[in-house]
Amino acid sequence: MEFGWPDSSRPAYIHEIKVSRRFGIPSIIFRTDFRQIQWMGIRYGRATHNKLFLIRFCMAMYAWRINNMDLYHSIGRRKSCRAYTQEPLTTSQLDEMKKALDEFELLYPDAPIEYRFTSETKGMFQVKAPHYLVFSGKGEEGEQENAGFIGQKLMLWLNAHELGGVWLGASKDATKQRTRADIIVLAFGTPEGSPHRTISEFKRKPIAEITNALEDECIKAVHLAPSGMNLQPWYLEKREDTLRLYRQILKPPMSLAYKLTHIDMGIALCHYAVGCDHFGKPFRFRASGNTEAKKGYEFIGEVN
Ligand SMILES: Cc1cc2nc3c(=O)[nH]c(=O)nc-3n(C[C@H](O)[C@H](O)[C@H](O)COP(=O)(O)O)c2cc1C
Repeated sequence: MEFGWPDSSRPAYIHEIKVSRRFGIPSIIFRTDFRQIQWMGIRYGRATHNKLFLIRFCMAMYAWRINNMDLYHSIGRRKSCRAYTQEPLTTSQLDEMKKALDEFELLYPDAPIEYRFTSETKGMFQVKAPHYLVFSGKGEEGEQENAGFIGQKLMLWLNAHELGGVWLGASKDATKQRTRADIIVLAFGTPEGSPHRTISEFKRKPIAEITNALEDECIKAVHLAPSGMNLQPWYLEKREDTLRLYRQILKPPMSLAYKLTHIDMGIALCHYAVGCDHFGKPFRFRASGNTEAKKGYEFIGEVN
């Protein structure tokens, strides 16, 4: 493992000094013009010399690698894949995917969710895939947004590994593992054909319908985010350095047919967060806050 400065041509400054919540290791966050770099292992006292520290250090480096893998490029080229070779992924591919998923940070840390693999699903708009993943919770608020947030990060991760995936909002686990607290199903595997497309092949609303900040790169990343029935039920209002996020309240008959807009909001915030990471901006989401109401929308939270 090398500890040298990753790219000496990029100027860097100390952005933050903090203690890693997960591993209890003090670390210094350096910020370059490009992205955040976490410099682990600045530690004093005898723990520096013991094995536990070394193990923690390696785990932290691994977590850092997963969380800082630049998934931004997948935002502008991914697509929902609905045709797969039925060849299962290898055990090591699945293990790598699980490790990545375990490291993704939640949007609402107080609403933890679980995931499991299942072999069979049923419902409308079925997609035959070699693998299905089900997110499940306890029925708490924030779980749907969390599923959207980490599930979409997984979708970008799959794309970055030349694999494909698709959200299946109308499908359920068809095995005995199914529970009432299941949130959503994803299908994934090796796609038939490419998991990529060009930017001109994205079908999205004009960006002016979803924001007042047409040139903001992180909002452009949200503009490309997938949503159930491609509804794009979000509005992003930028005021100075604060982003206000709104969820569209659907009206009948659409509100009767589609009930997953909370998942869509998690997906939108995932793209915003990946954009922030890529452009070296902080991503701090606050679920509440005082703000003016917006007709036809529910206020979700602020990012600044
Ligand atoms: C929450 C959610 C549920 C979805 N459910 C289905 C589904 O049941 N079947 C399907 O084929 N696609 C489903 N999709 C995929 C969307 O149709 C797709 O993301 C959208 O049309 C945009 O296309 P893109 O993903 O290729 O950018 C779902 C997407 C989301 C985010």
